Amino acid sequence: MNTMIDAIGSAFHSERLTYRAIEDNEADKNFVFTHLSDPVTYALANPSIHRPVSRKTSDDKTVSGINGSLLAVMICLTGDSPASSEPIGGLWITEAQFYQQRGLLGIRISTAHQNKGYGFEAVNWAMDWSFRWGGLHSLALGASLYNERAVAVYKKAGFKQEGVSREAVYRDRKWLDTVQLAILEHEWEALRGINT
Ligand SMILES: CC(C)(COP(=O)(O)OP(=O)(O)OC[C@H]1O[C@@H](n2cnc3c(N)ncnc32)[C@H](O)[C@@H]1OP(=O)(O)O)[C@@H](O)C(=O)NCCC(=O)NCCS
Repeated sequence: MNTMIDAIGSAFHSERLTYRAIEDNEADKNFVFTHLSDPVTYALANPSIHRPVSRKTSDDKTVSGINGSLLAVMICLTGDSPASSEPIGGLWITEAQFYQQRGLLGIRISTAHQNKGYGFEAVNWAMDWSFRWGGLHSLALGASLYNERAVAVYKKAGFKQEGVSREAVYRDRKWLDTVQLAILEHEWEALRGINT
């Protein structure tokens, strides 16, 4: 038995989920537009101005996410075969600066599949990918404080709060704070019981 080959072979799976590359094709662009760009899911994941997302904007971001990210994967329910794995979300890691080895995480789960533990599972997988395969030293993200579910998921997974940007997002006559959260490589090692 070759443990390295086994590890490589199982790297794109977690308990219930499979992670595959997001494709620059009609099916994936349609999924991102239809299931991940509804007003609420999109606004929770983006601090940008709250306005309807056009198909072109969604498609352009899908393509730039594929080309400009360290990792751009479709989160899929594991099926009997790769072809039968149903997409339920997307996950992206971009690099802050290559010399910082800091990844910036983005994740969106479709409304129909939220609150079933998939986000927590995928965030844990993203941590494992970052430190086992991505060569990163930390994984970070920004979240609006009103997105209590997302903040709860990240903190439960082991992310720590690093800072607050005060009144950084404008929503419905309110200026809202965002938080920066991150997990460092050695914190992940301690979580996974890895002795270096
Ligand atoms: C945020 C997101 C990735 C989480 O994934 P998910 O699959 O819905 O979440 P999970 O089911 O794994 O976990 C939800 C957890 O949040 C908790 N939660 C839900 N609503 C909450 C709230 N208002 N306050 C605090 N905790 C809350 C749940 O109790 C659960 O924790 P538990 O398992 O300990 O009970 C997903 O909801 C999503 O894509 N949302 C829209 C886009 C977004 O917010 N992206 C992240 C931007 S930073």
